[in-house]
Amino acid sequence: MWKQSKWIAVLAVTLAGPAMAGTLPSLPNPPANYPTGELGRLVKLGEDIIMHTDTHPLTKDLVGNKLQCTSCHLQGGRAKTIGTFIGTATAFPAFSKREKTVQTLQDRINNCFMRSMNGKRPIIDTEASVAMASYVTWLSEGLPVAMNAQKPVTPYYSGTWPDKEVVPLIKKATHANYLNGQKIYQQRCQSCHGENGQGAGNFPPLWGNGAYNTGAGMSKLEKMTSWLEPNMPAGNANLTKQEAVDVTLFIDAQPRPSFNLQDHLLPKSEMGYYNSKVLKEKHDVRSNFKIFGLDVDAIRGDRRIR
Ligand code: HEC
Ligand code: HEC
Repeated sequence: MWKQSKWIAVLAVTLAGPAMAGTLPSLPNPPANYPTGELGRLVKLGEDIIMHTDTHPLTKDLVGNKLQCTSCHLQGGRAKTIGTFIGTATAFPAFSKREKTVQTLQDRINNCFMRSMNGKRPIIDTEASVAMASYVTWLSEGLPVAMNAQKPVTPYYSGTWPDKEVVPLIKKATHANYLNGQKIYQQRCQSCHGENGQGAGNFPPLWGNGAYNTGAGMSKLEKMTSWLEPNMPAGNANLTKQEAVDVTLFIDAQPRPSFNLQDHLLPKSEMGYYNSKVLKEKHDVRSNFKIFGLDVDAIRGDRRIR
């Protein structure tokens, strides 16, 4: 497969040179050695799940799309860029406005299954849940604990995440920005992510049934733009802020699964304790655009797609 070998070449360049668009240079390198014994086994198991979430025997039934955690948390969260897991564990327990409770690292990880993975929330303290939390915690070994009373994200990027400068650019967007985004997609994204955003092989889907749903961080326009800036195109992140906004508008306006929180919880008898005071939450493509005062029909310039 030429696409795959092209990606390997890109990755080789990325790993070799300073071209990696690291925006968090103050982060230390991830630890060199795994812990020993049973803890080491769990850390490695967690890493395996994060790299192969949709096919791993412990999580495949909980994933509803074709993504892995590493699709967005690059190199399994070892990359020093937006999405890194280096430092993440230092922030937990942390308050979350979304759930209106203090979240543990396991809560935070497991909630991604409902949104980014369009699946079901794993049960806290099951082997998969403990393993993923062990791996993510290992990546913060030696870093000082820093409670976060505002949001459940690492203190290493709570100031830069999301990029506030993109918000005014999103708010004034029009159909012309969408068309420019489509052009950027075709010229700089499509070769890996596919003509219809469906992905292929190691290239993850961006829209359609194999992609993240409308409750995922990536479906919120300012978050996707902020993530794209340092990370895409893979190995050669070079979008200007405006280009990142335009291609975000194009991608997040495409059809994807709508989010209804209740559909992503296991039956009550199985789900264990769900640490949230919010039990109803719904989003769709339309409502995600409305947050910025945008009408998605006008942005698409097409009233037929719903
Ligand atoms: C489609 C992209 C995507 C996928 C796939 C994804 N995430 Fe995330 N994740 C994000 C984004 C974007 C954020 C930031 C969210 C926010 O601020 O709302 C995030 C945040 C997190 C955080 C908090 C990060 C921090 O440093 O504070 C954790 C932990 C996390 N994700 C774990 C996971 C795990 C584990 C998986 C796999 C089960 C996963 N994510 C899959 C996009 C993704
Ligand atoms: C050289 C191939 C390549 C190109 C070109 C590329 N990507 Fe990616 N993209 C990837 C890979 C590979 C990943 C998953 C990360 C990993 O596995 O390391 C990814 C992940 C993503 C993700 C998060 C995962 C998901 O599926 O939701 C988004 C969003 C994304 N790319 C958007 C873009 C956009 C927008 C462009 C064009 C500006 C682009 N990509 C260009 C290879 C590419």
